[in-house]
Amino acid sequence: MDEAASASPTIATRRSRLRRLVRRTFAERSLIIASNRGPIEFERLRSGRLRATRGAGGMVSAVSAISRHANPIWICSPMTAADREMACEHPGELIPHSTKDYDFRIRFVLSDKDAYDPFYFKVSNPLLWFLQHYMWDLVRAPSFADDMWFAWQGYQRVNRDFAEVIATEAQRGGKPAIIILQDYHLYLCPGSLTPLLPEEALLAHFVHIPWPGPDYWMVLPPAMREQILASLCCNHILGFHTKRYAMSFLRTCESLLPDAQVDYSAQTVTREGRTLLVRVYPISVDLRSVRRLAKARSTARERQHLQRRLGEQTILRVDRIDPSKNIVRGFQALDQLLRRHPEHLGRVRLLALLVPSRLGIEEYRQYVHEVIVAAQRLNLEYGDREWQPVELIVGEDRARAFAAMQLYDVLLVNPIIDGMNLVAKEGPMVKERDGVLVISEGAGASEELSDGALVVSPYDVLHTAEALHRALVMPGDERQERATKLRAAVEEHTVDDWLYDQLFDLSALIAS
Ligand code: G6P
Repeated sequence: MDEAASASPTIATRRSRLRRLVRRTFAERSLIIASNRGPIEFERLRSGRLRATRGAGGMVSAVSAISRHANPIWICSPMTAADREMACEHPGELIPHSTKDYDFRIRFVLSDKDAYDPFYFKVSNPLLWFLQHYMWDLVRAPSFADDMWFAWQGYQRVNRDFAEVIATEAQRGGKPAIIILQDYHLYLCPGSLTPLLPEEALLAHFVHIPWPGPDYWMVLPPAMREQILASLCCNHILGFHTKRYAMSFLRTCESLLPDAQVDYSAQTVTREGRTLLVRVYPISVDLRSVRRLAKARSTARERQHLQRRLGEQTILRVDRIDPSKNIVRGFQALDQLLRRHPEHLGRVRLLALLVPSRLGIEEYRQYVHEVIVAAQRLNLEYGDREWQPVELIVGEDRARAFAAMQLYDVLLVNPIIDGMNLVAKEGPMVKERDGVLVISEGAGASEELSDGALVVSPYDVLHTAEALHRALVMPGDERQERATKLRAAVEEHTVDDWLYDQLFDLSALIAS
């Protein structure tokens, strides 16, 4: 019997089957990963030395896990000034990077600033990110005037730059390549890349963010959306986190892509003689790194600092400051909670660990302001010298986030919509006593975690407040039962399984 079909193998068994599959697959293939943000970022220290730090975001940590098994070439944009220095000093070279966890070779794609800025600051974010998170206030935006069409040219240009570099590396390897593209920045890459690749190369693309239905994609003019859809159909496999997003993609192709033939039972789209497999691979956390960081000395130190900042009971949220994370409605829910259940006054505190993000974009800067004002308003209204309902800590610190995850009573994850949301999976694994997860039905993770969590609508602040109340007063045995279900759901499908399932499908294509 194939291992994939055996009943609930242990985490260790599943890890070794991944290792075996990787060894088998990459004995005869090379692996190329491409994403806009790479797995590391360089920084020039005052001493003049260059230091590499891990790139931000869940996608990077999950995808990095594969590097342990298959020394990939990782093609990405330079994100910092020091990255750009490296790219200019080593044009066309692979920069090796290994730590005890990771082992890969970086190749930077140096696009013109005139193309890159509109690619990142106009099209990838906000246009596509906003579209795929239902964030447009459609009465007012977006408008496709000449500046947007000009930005679209930048998006096309950077995608072509990526395609050219990927094609060069695919030919250089000596073995046929498996190429895995990541996310919405690179939607046009498959279309440009396919004619440059040898027949035996395999192309997969993973979309880490939600995929809305066809009506919402109609916000994009036909020329843009058809180019995106046609390009994505050049892949052999297209992966999503949830069944809902995969289904929306199929429906979008059926409605908006001329000449596409959609087969819902096989989950395929056929166009111009090529067949794309649309598959669901829910991303997860790397349990080994999660456990290691939970035990780290840096986490213990942060934990001591945090103890002083907690309430008798603590509601925790950990987010990038992004309008899709719905942070302000989270504060509105706290307001409702304190109004309707005054017994929590003086006792409960919302600890918000927030990481500034994409500050080059006006909407993000504006949202930082809205978040701070909403927190201050609550503290002014309810707080006194002894107690404030909101403790806001701004800045990225993974050890601090892990320390906080060991200490919460309730973890609030209430995005409007979110591809997966790895905080919802990390929290229950890091938490020592049994904590309660309140999760929005918009988070992709709610598809797997709904049994153990309290699920709320992200827009319904009254019911979010009631869920917070229920979580805060929940009897111990129910907390324990729910926390056990959450941990089991996360362990059921780890990041190793996410990688295994994708490689398994790719190897099946090689074999066919
Ligand atoms: C989040 C998303 C990823 C995306 C990344 C880009 O982490 O979950 O899917 O690739 O943002 O963020 P950036 O900071 O590079 O704009």
